[in-house]
Formats: sequence, structure tokens, C-alpha cells
Amino acid sequence: MVLVYPHNDNNSHLYVLGENMYVCLCHGVTDTQIRDAVMDGATRLRDVAQQLGVATDCGRCACCAHQLIKETLTELTAEAHSPFREVA
Ligand code: FES
Repeated sequence: MVLVYPHNDNNSHLYVLGENMYVCLCHGVTDTQIRDAVMDGATRLRDVAQQLGVATDCGRCACCAHQLIKETLTELTAEAHSPFREVA
């Protein structure tokens, strides 16, 4: 049996299953997949939609996906301008 439940009351279209937060239920796309797409060069919802199918059916995930893209781009920008670099 698989349990799927809303992530929070404000975003009822977000679902957590195990360690994955599903943003797009129509295409089974997680937040990690969206963040990875941005890390690989996607900068707009259109890019992520083409790669993963996000927001190409019912569209309920569009706002959350857009927010995730913005957050990830902000994180990448902050890392790029950080005076501290990760040392391997
Ligand atoms: S939830 Fe993403 S298109 Fe429907």
C-alpha cells in the first residue's frame, strides 16, 4: 500500500511519498527533478516543461514549479558569488 498525503494546507497539490515531494502529479515529477533540471541549465518554466512535462496538463503545478525554479536560481547565484568555495 502506498500512502500519499498533502505536503501542507497551502499547497494541496504537493504530495510527499517517501523522501520525494511530488510537484507535478500528472507527470510524476519531484522537486529534486526540477532542481536538477535548473542545475543543468533550465532557467524558465518553459524549459522545465519541455524537459519534464511539468505544467503541460492540468497546470496546477505551474506556480510551485516556477517558485522552485526561482529558488534554485537564487541559490545558484548566491553560491557563485560566495567568497567561500567548497574544497574537495
Ligand atoms: S500537476 Fe503538473 S500538469 Fe497537472
